[in-house]
Amino acid sequence: MLKKKGSYVVAVVGATGAVGQEMIQTLIQRDFPVDRLRLFASERSEGKELEYRDKKLRVEKITEDSFKGIDIALFSAGAERSKIWAPIAAKSGCVVIDNSSQWRMDPEVPLVVPEVNPYDLSWHKGIIANPNCSTIQMVVVLKPIHDAAKIKRVVVTTFQAVSGTGMKAMDELMQQTSDIMNFKEIRTNVYPYQIAFNVLPHIDKFLENGYTKEEMKMVNETKKIMGDNTVKVTATTVRVPVFRGHSESLNIETEKKLSANEARAILSEARGVLVYDAPEKNIYPMPLTAADKDDTYVGRIREDESIECGLNMWIVSDNLRKGAALNAVQIAEELIK
Ligand code: A2P
Repeated sequence: MLKKKGSYVVAVVGATGAVGQEMIQTLIQRDFPVDRLRLFASERSEGKELEYRDKKLRVEKITEDSFKGIDIALFSAGAERSKIWAPIAAKSGCVVIDNSSQWRMDPEVPLVVPEVNPYDLSWHKGIIANPNCSTIQMVVVLKPIHDAAKIKRVVVTTFQAVSGTGMKAMDELMQQTSDIMNFKEIRTNVYPYQIAFNVLPHIDKFLENGYTKEEMKMVNETKKIMGDNTVKVTATTVRVPVFRGHSESLNIETEKKLSANEARAILSEARGVLVYDAPEKNIYPMPLTAADKDDTYVGRIREDESIECGLNMWIVSDNLRKGAALNAVQIAEELIK
């Protein structure tokens, strides 16, 4: 559904945001065949200039006609904008790769992590959803374990960076940290409580079942991406005062027993995964280890001694890269293969 060409007209929608900026950098770093890049954001940013390679590109506001002539549009301007503009873009003949939660659970829209389910790209109808950041890094690790030993249940707790909320949240953490150091009064706008020197067990809205929307995204999106409704997931998602890099503690129960060494060997072979696990040398992944990197780092791999067939591990990935921009660009790469 995407015509084979030497190079493509690509748009980044939400180009001034944290993920949008990362999308532009990722297109450059991966040398994506861009014939022309168009940048879109809100009216507030219209006319602003952003750097792309050695050029300065003007940011445009979106109109009904904006997507004509565009081959691929990477959307990162939030669910409300995706709801309105993604169908208009798709109707104009462009393939939308949407980073918001708007289309992820729509049965007509594939939800894709290229290392896990690239085959789902074959049935897209113009919109492809990029999964939630915490889910992406988890499934690249779960898939090879599922293939080897069939996962019954996953208990995950996340430690998520503020960049997942966007630029304003990064500014808020920086400002609060500086205000605290300078004995100034602290202001909170983005989060309900101070995020600097604090931890909030609350990401996205609370739902009727007591879980947050972020937690239920991890439960539901994992099943859709893995194409297996039998994998049970329960999640607690937590915001931590880190700029970049989501960490996750995973407890995985499998049908077949895997030793820690077997799991290490399987994960060492997995695409997009880097085993970083030598506790005797204090080697384990941290957000600073994974920042600006493409791989999902895995460490602290241990057998769960409380059950017959279980593993514990600690995984970290750059939420703006694999959790958002990189996964979106990898989807685009699959589409033009
Ligand atoms: P703008 O910078 O003009 O507000 P983040 O998640 O980092 O906050 O970024 C959100 C992105 O979505 C920004 O690029 C922002 O542009 C863009 N955006 C917000 N509202 C709109 C809108 N109504 N139309 C298009 N882009 C929007």
